[in-house]
Amino acid sequence: MTSRLPFSRRIAIAFVLMTVVVSGSFSLGIVAVVHFVEDQLISKELRGKLNMVLHEDIKAGREPRLDARTRFFASNSADHPIPERFADYPEGFTEIEEENEATYVYVLEANGARYMLLQDQRDFEEREKILFSVVLAGFLLCIVLSWGLGVVMARQVMAPVARLAGQVRHPDQLDTSTAPLAPDYADDEIGHLAAAFDTTLGRLRRSIERERLFTSDVSHELRTPLMVISTSCELLLEQPLQDGQRAQLERMARSARDMNDLVRTFLLLARSGPAEAAEAATLADVAREQAELWEPAIRAKGLAFELIDEGADTAGHNPTFLRTVMANLLRNALHYTAGGTVRLVLERNGFRVEDTGMGILEHERDRIFEPFVRGAAARGEGLGLGLSLVKRICEHNGWEIAAPSCQETGACFRISFGACRAMDEARNG
Ligand SMILES: Nc1ncnc2c1ncn2[C@@H]1O[C@H](COP(=O)(O)OP(=O)(O)OP(=O)(O)O)[C@@H](O)[C@H]1O
Ligand SMILES: [Mg+2]
Repeated sequence: MTSRLPFSRRIAIAFVLMTVVVSGSFSLGIVAVVHFVEDQLISKELRGKLNMVLHEDIKAGREPRLDARTRFFASNSADHPIPERFADYPEGFTEIEEENEATYVYVLEANGARYMLLQDQRDFEEREKILFSVVLAGFLLCIVLSWGLGVVMARQVMAPVARLAGQVRHPDQLDTSTAPLAPDYADDEIGHLAAAFDTTLGRLRRSIERERLFTSDVSHELRTPLMVISTSCELLLEQPLQDGQRAQLERMARSARDMNDLVRTFLLLARSGPAEAAEAATLADVAREQAELWEPAIRAKGLAFELIDEGADTAGHNPTFLRTVMANLLRNALHYTAGGTVRLVLERNGFRVEDTGMGILEHERDRIFEPFVRGAAARGEGLGLGLSLVKRICEHNGWEIAAPSCQETGACFRISFGACRAMDEARNG
């Protein structure tokens, strides 16, 4: 399982764990050595003293010459009887640590008698406690220091990685003119990672560029034959024609115009950055033109059509984009409505297209804007691309599109020309 902790935190934790193990073993070693040395030295000293008492003082019939902390007992001496509670201690050195008492006992058995030296060791114990506290404080200090050091080191180690991540994330990274990343880094693991990013990003940049060129080449190259078709239609329409032939020709001319519009839309979308507004049209102009185009087909299906002006916005918009968006929404309204009305309503900061058709199911509201997604209402031929193109155009222009539930039956699509526009207008009064 991969740890979810940030890498820098894991480095700091590794530092602390290493310190716990190293300085913990070191501290335990100090404690063990102190105990060992204590046992060895004190036991040697007590044995020496006891021998001196037995061989020099007792033999000479003198009182044992001992300091105030040390007392002598013997099982065969009426002056120094062994106290009851020490009677059972084994031969050799023993350390007694009880609540207020800290004593060393040394027992020697010789010639059927037991001899004992008792030494008060409270002073030594006090000093030993201080030593152990210092060792413990040192151990804890080491842990705190290692955490601090770990955090600083981890930051140092991670700094180039964080910088690389920032560079890879930068929006300009997919521009063809962006400099490669690897030369900024040393020839180490991070340098190799940067080189790997350079290779992958290079591939990505080339494929994006190829796709962009493909779209613009196709769009560009289609414009000439489309112009030829349009001009030929116009020339033919000037000839005397039968009614049926004229209607067919007009349909061909309109389709050629639609295709021309689409080609221009694709070309504009393929260009990165906001579209330069070579020409601008008002919402009302485009709406009138689209109403003229779609009303006959809508009425021919037995539906009513209404163009309602609720205070249309007067700003200029890119007519190609606006036309494509409105045409797609009106085409859908016509296509997915069996009876009732199709409404194109102009608002102050956008417009909406409403119909009284089958409407859109709640769970489909967001998904229908994805490419190749068709909803439950889908019928007839269609790829599910219309709304995704509309959405991309809106994103390109900073417009917003939504399918709110404006009415009880049918669908409603609302385009808002964006919060930036509203702010501009508020600023200009
Ligand atoms: N006015 C509407 N009323 C009901 N459902 C709609 C309406 N407009 C769109 N939809 C639903 O959204 C889906 C996606 O619409 P979109 O225009 O993207 O694709 P399409 O119309 O199915 O095919 P295409 O537009 O590519 O020919 C449709 O299949 C339909 O289910
Ligand atoms: Mg459609």
